[in-house]
Amino acid sequence: MNKKEEVKRTVREHYGKAVSADSRGGGCCGPGADCCGGPSVGIGVEGFGMTNYTLVELASVPEDAAKYSFGCGNPLAFSEVQEGQTVVDIGSGAGLDAIIAARHVGPAGRVIGLDMTPEMIQRARENVRQAGLANVTFLQGDAESMPLADETSDWVISNCVINLAPDKKRVFQEIFRILKPGGRMLISDMVAENLPPEVLSSSEAWCGCIAGAVSEAEYIAAVRAAGFKDVRVVNRAEMDPRTAASVVGFDLGGSPDEIAQSAAKHGTRVASIKVAAVKPGA
Ligand SMILES: C[S@@+](CC[C@H](N)C(=O)[O-])C[C@H]1O[C@@H](n2cnc3c(N)ncnc32)[C@H](O)[C@@H]1O
Repeated sequence: MNKKEEVKRTVREHYGKAVSADSRGGGCCGPGADCCGGPSVGIGVEGFGMTNYTLVELASVPEDAAKYSFGCGNPLAFSEVQEGQTVVDIGSGAGLDAIIAARHVGPAGRVIGLDMTPEMIQRARENVRQAGLANVTFLQGDAESMPLADETSDWVISNCVINLAPDKKRVFQEIFRILKPGGRMLISDMVAENLPPEVLSSSEAWCGCIAGAVSEAEYIAAVRAAGFKDVRVVNRAEMDPRTAASVVGFDLGGSPDEIAQSAAKHGTRVASIKVAAVKPGA
């Protein structure tokens, strides 16, 4: 198995365990961290997990869909998904965003969730069954090679997933391929700069959505290189270095203040961004 496949295997195992029966221990921001969501509405003050969701949205989904949410901010809050449209959610996890998207598109629309972790697909299907929705399906597959036809989607959304992919350029090429001409994407994801080497080499920090995060400039360049136009960062939430150090569960040594100072000295930055882009040719 090559290095990239090995990374994906580790990520798959991590999220398979994270969503297993009574575990909520290892989400986007690391084992036991609360930053990426949890059973209570409002978690995300320190991090980004349940940010950009309305109370009405969260009240309208099965409890487990919110409980097993591992995102970094609701992408749909920045989209203009409309009734009758087709939406693909890349790395759909336990189905929270897919279920909310299904309410936006209504019975005449369609939502497809794609995830490479079988346990996630299983939980998402159960959540959709509980939500009583007939317009959502989930497919197991890799974002770098999606089992979806060309030019079939009006929107692609994703929440805290592409940072986990070893080949981000490939993911954006795939998103471009499956979008109809004029189709749009709204991606919520983590970006980071000047991470300490011990973080970059940590598979725990990769699974925690930090070590695989690239800089915002690199991220945007990959989106543009895939062919998208009107590429914009429509929202950016920076994580303070002390929180970043604690939520990913890595120990850089020293007190929280020393860690924050060291991160500031090295220019370490971690943020959740929302990226909008359009496929030309409507
Ligand atoms: C941090 S979780 C976010 C899940 C969901 N979007 C949410 O907001 O709760 C990342 C998800 O992406 C999936 N994933 C990671 N890499 C993937 C890839 N290359 N292809 C498909 N799914 C992937 C994982 O299985 C996991 O369910």
